[in-house]
Amino acid sequence: MIKQAIIPLAGLGTRLLPLTTVIPKELLPINGKPGLEYILDECIEAGIKEVILIISNKKKMIRSYFQNDLFYKKIIKEKKDKRISNEYKKILKYKKIIKFVYQNKPLGTGDAVLKTKKFIKDNFFLMLLPDDLIIRNNCSKEMISVHKKYKSSVMASMNVDKKTVSRWGIFKIRKKLNNSNFLIDNVIEKPSVKKAPSNKAVIGRYILPKEIFKKLNKQKKGKGGEIHITDAIQKLILDKKKFIGHNFAGKYLDCGTMNGYIKSTIRISKK
Ligand code: G1P
Repeated sequence: MIKQAIIPLAGLGTRLLPLTTVIPKELLPINGKPGLEYILDECIEAGIKEVILIISNKKKMIRSYFQNDLFYKKIIKEKKDKRISNEYKKILKYKKIIKFVYQNKPLGTGDAVLKTKKFIKDNFFLMLLPDDLIIRNNCSKEMISVHKKYKSSVMASMNVDKKTVSRWGIFKIRKKLNNSNFLIDNVIEKPSVKKAPSNKAVIGRYILPKEIFKKLNKQKKGKGGEIHITDAIQKLILDKKKFIGHNFAGKYLDCGTMNGYIKSTIRISKK
């Protein structure tokens, strides 16, 4: 069973400036609730029991969001407002399962994952990138059942317009297992159109094996001077570790760019 999830949240959020000069992007509201809550709800519904949030000193506001007990208790005592007590109950539900670790230098997703090393108990764990919202179908739940079926690591994937490949991690298929699952031959971070091995993009849901930490310990900086999880995954693939690309059923919303964030807000409010 996959019981632990990690969520990297220490990125600077430059694609959402100027909002992110004062608010962590994951707390920006999407139809009245922070984007991060959608991600946590997805985890809880998928049966995850512990979520490790990787934050930084600059993004301590994320921690405060979940640790405002005194404030809530005082307000609830004074106001006796049903809505406020329900919101507090919801926060307590999240608080029970989350843990914080720090990544104070934004060195990349791979480096963020490495910070969780000593907390991961089982052989596999889930990682969710909060910029990627997936609605209508619980993608984490799908990934967990793919992992169970094939006893394999899994990455969520989506067919993208070939012109946009340099925005994503792109993988080459070794074998098509069925219409939505593909055995991966290799994966490359943000390739040029010329170098892209396909139009299959990695989206921010991963089931990773514990062995990834060994690779991350030695992982050198890649594209843009960052330590990429994609590069460590490629090392595992070279060691013959099985990775499956899973084309998920839900609808993908990109909340990590200003344009995408605005579109996502409109899309979710119509739900
Ligand atoms: C990250 C990954 C990339 C993946 C993408 C999905 O990129 O490095 O491989 O395709 O998430 O959203 P980022 O969005 O951090 O640039």
